[in-house]
Amino acid sequence: MTASKAARVANLYIHVPFCAQKCAYCAFYSEASSGELVNRYVAALIREMEMVASDLKPKTIFFGGGTPSLLNLRQWEQILRAMEKLNLLGAEEFTVECNPATVSSDKAKLFRDFGVNRISMGVQSLDEKLLDRLGRIHSREMVFKSFDILRAAGFENLNLDLMFAIPTQTVEIWRATLTEAMAMQSEHLSSYEVIYEDDTPLFAQMKAGEFDVDENLACEMYDELVSRATAAGFHQYEIANFAKGALNGEKIPALACKHNVNYWRGGSFYGLGPSATGYVRGVRTKNWSNTQLYCEQLENGKRAIESSEELPPLRRAGETAAFGLRMNAGWAFEEFQRVTDFDLRREWGKDMEQLAGRGWALRDANRFQLTPQGLRFADAAAELFLR
Ligand SMILES: C[S@@+](CC[C@H](N)C(=O)[O-])C[C@H]1O[C@@H](n2cnc3c(N)ncnc32)[C@H](O)[C@@H]1O
Ligand code: SF4
Repeated sequence: MTASKAARVANLYIHVPFCAQKCAYCAFYSEASSGELVNRYVAALIREMEMVASDLKPKTIFFGGGTPSLLNLRQWEQILRAMEKLNLLGAEEFTVECNPATVSSDKAKLFRDFGVNRISMGVQSLDEKLLDRLGRIHSREMVFKSFDILRAAGFENLNLDLMFAIPTQTVEIWRATLTEAMAMQSEHLSSYEVIYEDDTPLFAQMKAGEFDVDENLACEMYDELVSRATAAGFHQYEIANFAKGALNGEKIPALACKHNVNYWRGGSFYGLGPSATGYVRGVRTKNWSNTQLYCEQLENGKRAIESSEELPPLRRAGETAAFGLRMNAGWAFEEFQRVTDFDLRREWGKDMEQLAGRGWALRDANRFQLTPQGLRFADAAAELFLR
């Protein structure tokens, strides 16, 4: 099908592969920036946008990273003007990820002027020692200051990212961070348990036995997170995600991240920038995780795609099932069939029975969803659905 005949893709992810310095735990593709490479990246990204713009009509845009807020005003203006020219602006939800050390009023104003209406801020912790331990470049004061700058610029939809089960973090420290984070009254909260990613300094420290990993403590912190967030007026709608606002028929709060909900619901999206993945009309693509190479390819007029695969329908449906189960609402059988053309009850009946038997899931006439206990083991539960 040619792009002009098919419905245009409504979701756009753009990866910005630069950080001021690498955090000890992070395996996202990014590197410490040099001015020249950043300029080259901006030009290459604009080329890549030009190549796909006619197949896009974004309802959601998400600039992630890396640290998108590290780009300077001039670079941002170049990108946003190019998007304007290509008719890519005007999304219902337009998010930019920011590090608290790289937020300024000028940047915030520029973002607002071009329709950015949601900022996701990487906070991780409000404990000075832990921020240091994680290799973060900002202080706790910078978090509060940046938050105020964003509010003053008119942002009414702000997310905070937090991490828990950080080595040496106690429940008391976690509670204090939660108390302060809730007092900030953001509209959205994402909170992840630390993952020990291969090839990160934190992983090496763990392997060297520099600290113990305590699963029970992590569970206690997760329970604390869910109860505090709920008491503060958030609705949990995914394992690690909480938002304010009224619940819709699918039990998703009004201020949930629509861009991520599209991922979990198996929707299409374009992914631009080094290392970005995309999923368009059943074809999954991945760009090169190498910024130099990415730029070279685009300078030569080519997309920078490293791999591209069309998944067999059943495998695709299985992955969609697994992803969607991360959401508290799970899957309505009808919705799953609409998205995948498969009947969850027919193909995965036994697996659902097994999970319900373990107390990890609930099933009624219309829907299948994980219980709070099941959500904690969602990765193991999800595996049953992969074909
Ligand atoms: C791309 S970063 C966010 C924006 C920005 N780069 C920053 O850190 O300020 C996305 C989020 O993923 C989470 N994250 C990254 N690596 C993680 C890990 N190894 N374990 C748990 N959470 C992680 C952090 O909460 C981080 O804020
Ligand atoms: S957590 Fe954010 S700032 Fe830290 S290295 Fe990863 S992408 Fe960069």
